[in-house]
Amino acid sequence: MAHAHSTHPTSQETIAEFDRYVVPNYRRYPVSLVRGENSWIWDAEGRRYLDFFPGWGCNLLGHCPPRVVEAVRDQVGRLIHVPNTWYMEAQGEFARALSGRSFGGQCFFCNSGAEANEAAIKLARAYGHSRGKSKILTMEGGFHGRTFAALTATAQPKYHEGLGPMLPGFVYTKYDDLEAVAAAIDDETAAVMLEPIQGEGGVRIPSAGFLPGLRKLCDRHGALLILDEVQTGMGRTGTWFAYQHSDVVPDVLTCAKALAGGIAAGVMIAKPEVAAVLKPGMHASTFGGNPIACRAGLATVETIDDEGLLERGLAIGERFRGQFQALQGELPEKIREIRIQGVMIGLDLTFDASDVVARCLDRRLLINATHGHVVRLLPALTISDEQIDQGCAILADVLREAVI
Ligand SMILES: Cc1ncc(COP(=O)(O)O)c(C=O)c1O
Repeated sequence: MAHAHSTHPTSQETIAEFDRYVVPNYRRYPVSLVRGENSWIWDAEGRRYLDFFPGWGCNLLGHCPPRVVEAVRDQVGRLIHVPNTWYMEAQGEFARALSGRSFGGQCFFCNSGAEANEAAIKLARAYGHSRGKSKILTMEGGFHGRTFAALTATAQPKYHEGLGPMLPGFVYTKYDDLEAVAAAIDDETAAVMLEPIQGEGGVRIPSAGFLPGLRKLCDRHGALLILDEVQTGMGRTGTWFAYQHSDVVPDVLTCAKALAGGIAAGVMIAKPEVAAVLKPGMHASTFGGNPIACRAGLATVETIDDEGLLERGLAIGERFRGQFQALQGELPEKIREIRIQGVMIGLDLTFDASDVVARCLDRRLLINATHGHVVRLLPALTISDEQIDQGCAILADVLREAVI
């Protein structure tokens, strides 16, 4: 393998290629990354970073998890792609694995979170059609993706700016506010769609009664409950899916990001009686459920099961909590709130967090800031206690030094 940094173009050379040939729609750190192993990642200059945000939540098992690497290597030599006009072993097995770990639904596979949400929105419209229902209720501060229906569902004006008009038929209401939802829902509501924990919106964990209350409201009005678990799903919060911390069962669930150990994949899981309205020809994805993604997904499921990573995720979250509680005691004027569910971690600061991200990068710790003032960490389930302590010490130093 080409590991020596001398075999790569320098970060500056790669940046020059991007400046010339890549659409400038991302803010990027000035570093070209070339290799990863678990929670470590190396740049083109051979520098090593500790990654508390591997793959923007996609690398839940860390970089290059061995079983996923092995499954993909094996599959790629047998069959790279076949379309959905055929049956393929891995898709059926992966669908069974996901159905059994959720609510016995049926799976539609695609390649990303936005696509999974598009499928869910189309399904809700199709299901509601004969009942005179088309409205989709979503929550302020939510994030569902960048394609037009997912973007419209994303009730944050900053993402809509300059792109209107959005799709008709979406109604926005307040997150974690049952009264607001009760006032907004009616008999024309086809679905209520939300994240069980808002990720991009600042790792917002709703109160315990919120999901059960929503379930009741949906049942009363004959609306589907769609949970966007693109970020929270696949073991991120210490259960296979975040809704499993409650006794609520959704009608439709979407997942992507960590679904296939870092390989691009998305899924919509729907109760069979709801899924039945999608007839052949109504929806499709050329690459969805391809054998490579499904083998990678199966390897991800097996790794989480065999290594007891759901329990480990809860323990990791508690280790971070211990570290951050001590730090909050020391820096109460800087840390407003600690929000943790498994390996989904938010540190709500009293000041803008972007400089904290830059300072951590200087010290070779990769983290994320979201919603302005929230440090978001989505560490891997395979991170060691030593790595947690090492990274937390860096973050603590950076927060101590921050001038507010
Ligand atoms: C909750 C949620 N839904 C949907 C998306 C969109 O996923 P993708 O970027 O794979 O389209 C994201 C991405 O951050 C997300 O966090």
